[in-house]
Amino acid sequence: MKRSLTQLPRPAIAPSLLASDFAHLADEIARAREAGADLLHVDVMDGHLVPNITIGPVVVEKVRACTDLFLDVHLMIEEPARYIKAFADAGADHLTFHSEVVVDGPALVGRIHDLGCTAGVTINPDGPWERFIATVPHVDMVLLMSIYAGFGGQKFMPEVLPRIRQIKAMLRPEQRLEIDGGINPETVAPAAEAGIDTFVAGTAVFRAPGGDYRRAIDDLRRRAAEAAR
Ligand code: DX5
Ligand code: ZN
Repeated sequence: MKRSLTQLPRPAIAPSLLASDFAHLADEIARAREAGADLLHVDVMDGHLVPNITIGPVVVEKVRACTDLFLDVHLMIEEPARYIKAFADAGADHLTFHSEVVVDGPALVGRIHDLGCTAGVTINPDGPWERFIATVPHVDMVLLMSIYAGFGGQKFMPEVLPRIRQIKAMLRPEQRLEIDGGINPETVAPAAEAGIDTFVAGTAVFRAPGGDYRRAIDDLRRRAAEAAR
């Protein structure tokens, strides 16, 4: 049974496993959960759409086996349609694909829904905007990249703030708006103020000062909630 996106709180903090210690994945996930993570963000990279290579369905299956957290899987891969079933079967709850590599976004959203997952669409800062916009009404959660996808630890691009406002104005109340890249105690507030409700944070959580994941998550959540008021 898939977990429900609509039951996640707003704001929600999604630690990104990319910044965790992959040699101790189960411990990292348990620590993030105990620290108050609302969901987990899982970055899948194929070395084609983005230069980096990370993990595939076999690892997602192991992640699923060690947590009941909602799994938000970000597919940075050239042929998402080929792999959505493998990731759904592995236990993903939500699958996000990139507009750069999908011509008919609404059709792929339909296929993701048929697999029992919720669907998301995203775009790099220089991606095909019209195609992306055409898919937005069909998804459960829109992901805005505030970096060029591929690596953690990059700097938040403030140029994305007008885009957040533009997309937020298009959404129905039940649709969520997520941001990914360079979210930290300084950048979380302007993003929340512009309309973001779901915050991916890799470095800010898993490389938090003193390894204090709870303090990092609480701080992001408090600043987001204050800015959204
Ligand atoms: C990068 C990934 C991000 C990454 C964010 O392409 O999509 O999810 O983990 O890392 P931080 O939070 O360090 O910018
Ligand atoms: Zn991501």
